[in-house]
Amino acid sequence: MNDAILVTGGAGFIGSNFVLNWIGSTTSSAINLDLMTYAGNPENLSSLDGDRRHLLVRGDICDAKLVGSLLREHQPRAIVHFAAESHVDRSIASPGAFMQTNVQGTFALLEQAKAYWSSLSQADKESFRFLHVSTDEVYGTLGPLDPPFSEATAYAPNSPYAASKAASDHLVRAYHHTWGFPTLTTNCSNNYGPFQFPEKLIPLMILNALESKALPVYGDGMNVRDWLFVEDHCSAIRTVLESGRVGETYNIGGNSERANIDVVKTICDLVDEMRPRAGKGSRRELITYVQDRPGHDRRYAIDASKLLRELGWKPSSEFESGLRKTVRWYLDHASWIENVRTGAYLEWMNKNYSERVAL
Ligand code: NAD
Ligand code: TYD
Repeated sequence: MNDAILVTGGAGFIGSNFVLNWIGSTTSSAINLDLMTYAGNPENLSSLDGDRRHLLVRGDICDAKLVGSLLREHQPRAIVHFAAESHVDRSIASPGAFMQTNVQGTFALLEQAKAYWSSLSQADKESFRFLHVSTDEVYGTLGPLDPPFSEATAYAPNSPYAASKAASDHLVRAYHHTWGFPTLTTNCSNNYGPFQFPEKLIPLMILNALESKALPVYGDGMNVRDWLFVEDHCSAIRTVLESGRVGETYNIGGNSERANIDVVKTICDLVDEMRPRAGKGSRRELITYVQDRPGHDRRYAIDASKLLRELGWKPSSEFESGLRKTVRWYLDHASWIENVRTGAYLEWMNKNYSERVAL
């Protein structure tokens, strides 16, 4: 075994932030296995071009032969598993891909990882880790006065996305329980920051606001999410990877619950400030309430006290300062935006929003 890690889905939003951070702050290497779906973007990693410590492999986590040979060849000390279909609205429109990658893919990856781990020396077996990156959505939805999700909250996934992630969490748990395979699972709240594909709330609203397009808020806009700046998520994953107790799960959150409508209004104000519209009013005028998402979870909130108590981790960014940095990043990366707006992206935007009538 050597000091390298295998990252899956490392060309997506969180995975690419993680890989950039890993290569930038360690002497270790990263083998990055990514299928390059619509959400995978090699441009996120262009600053690593020519860096021999980063190897980007285009391939599927379901491809047992490929995964097995990567593990045997590179002998990583850990796997950090981000690869997934990740957008709730897409899981409602077409759930099949979610079952394939999130459930079947995690199963295939676990099988190959367990076989590799079984072949290691006793000392290497003890230090190897499989870190599974998951979501708070597996816990379902909260009422306004409910306590936040803890690691002991019962699973109650409500969307096909959440159900597929819950299934993958259960598989990871079973591999630890049955074979002692050294797993770690993290369940994190909503992330935002650089490189997020503009189908998710925050980048979508930033781009629409910039172009003075309608800002489509689902339902009454009072659904609440907990928001975490992506760099904080990456630092939490690294903390759990290095010091987490094997077989445990850790909730990760930002202590930043916000109603969607308040997030959108703040984005309007930030874009107005950074790109004033001559002769026109506030971008808040663009807010349009549209038909709700079916089964839309009302509130997510995270109790991340286990991570603080056991491993000393807490978020370092405030939501408002993280959001300001994020708006600035999108303003400064016009060509990245141009390049992700492919035909497939436009097709999705048309499919998701043309059917949502304004309320
Ligand atoms: P993303 O959709 O931006 O990226 C997913 C990446 O996985 C893409 O690069 C894609 O090409 C790759 N991928 C998809 N199917 C694959 C396959 N079969 N084989 C190999 N690669 C494949 O997602 P993200 O927002 O970066 O999320 C990463 C992980 O974090 C996911 O597991 C997600 O469930 C979890 N998570 C996300 C959030 C969030 O707010 N975005 C919050 C908590 C947890
Ligand atoms: P999203 O970014 O898709 O994350 P998730 O559904 O995984 O929490 O959505 C965040 C919230 O924003 C969610 O309550 C749905 C809402 N939303 C809108 O109101 N309008 C939109 O166009 C989108 C994409 C999301």
